[in-house]
Amino acid sequence: MAVIDVALAGRSYQVLIGPALYERCGESLRRFLRKQAVPVVADAGALAAQGPRLIGALEAAGFAPAIFEVPAGEASKSWEGLARLTDWLLAQGVERGDHVLAFGGGVVGDLTGFACAILKRGCGFIQLPTTLLAQVDSSVGGKTAINTVAGKNLVGAFHQPSLVLADTTTLATLPQREMRAGYAEVLKYGVLGDAAFFDWLEAHGAAVLAREGAALEQAIATSVAAKARIVAEDERETTGTRALLNLGHTFGHALEAETGFSDRLLHGEAVALGMVLSARYSARLGLLAGADAARIGRSIEAAGLPATLPALGLACDGARLAQHMRHDKKMDAGTLPFVLLRGIGAAFLARDVALGDVAAFLDEELVR
Ligand code: GLY
Repeated sequence: MAVIDVALAGRSYQVLIGPALYERCGESLRRFLRKQAVPVVADAGALAAQGPRLIGALEAAGFAPAIFEVPAGEASKSWEGLARLTDWLLAQGVERGDHVLAFGGGVVGDLTGFACAILKRGCGFIQLPTTLLAQVDSSVGGKTAINTVAGKNLVGAFHQPSLVLADTTTLATLPQREMRAGYAEVLKYGVLGDAAFFDWLEAHGAAVLAREGAALEQAIATSVAAKARIVAEDERETTGTRALLNLGHTFGHALEAETGFSDRLLHGEAVALGMVLSARYSARLGLLAGADAARIGRSIEAAGLPATLPALGLACDGARLAQHMRHDKKMDAGTLPFVLLRGIGAAFLARDVALGDVAAFLDEELVR
């Protein structure tokens, strides 16, 4: 088992990573759970695939789990979903000093985290991420939110969990497409700040995607350690350091918007292609060697992720994609910060990117 510390003044916590953690959850959870009754907010898919294992382990440890099932999919991160969940938590008698378990992927983690941020002005929660994407990204760092008619994640709060249990056994039942989408966020840590990790993934990415135990645990632990360092440095995304985690997300957001935030393009797939576009745009600006941009593209392609715009078959032009970027929540006083690259492992935040130039670049990419 790997243990990563997220060091935050007064709110430090650990991320435990390894196989069969649920079977040993008694020892890790007991210091947080003061009562026998334990509220568990569970994604319906995770509940079907891994619920018996978690519930059995909680019962074996002497707890009495009460389950609130959340339908799979982004639609659950809504005002209605939040109201239903907070009403249920209140009916369960959850107090400020209690902890709620969030069992599932990013949807359940974000929704539960936000509910716990506002319930009685803040109660505790513990993340039990069941997807690769949630284990390496969304369960760590305290970003919580719901979606509104105006867009994704526009209403939320920073609220850190008290513990993250990333049980890698849950990934055994994850569909391969979801594995690949999560792997895009793993690659992201190499591309943005760790060239040696990028090299390692070139050699071991196939083993990670095949869920080989040691490679999988190392990839997750290295990713979480990178995220923990960044979050400890810039918890609320004010200095620009945490914004580096948005590598590939601005292009990716435009692609998700154009495909209607649907199953046509998963978030991780959009981030993968967004990273290729960031790299190629950086090369076009003369910031990054063309050979490095090509290497990033090859890694993404090798993982079975979309690596070129024509692969998506979009019927739009660059101006339309750039227009989606204007609605990006990172817009700041009329400018949109972009994460660009000076090398593999050397991302930086550019604040002077002209969206017109991005649109012209995208026009070229759409016919490449
Ligand atoms: N997923 C980006 C962040 O946590 O900042």
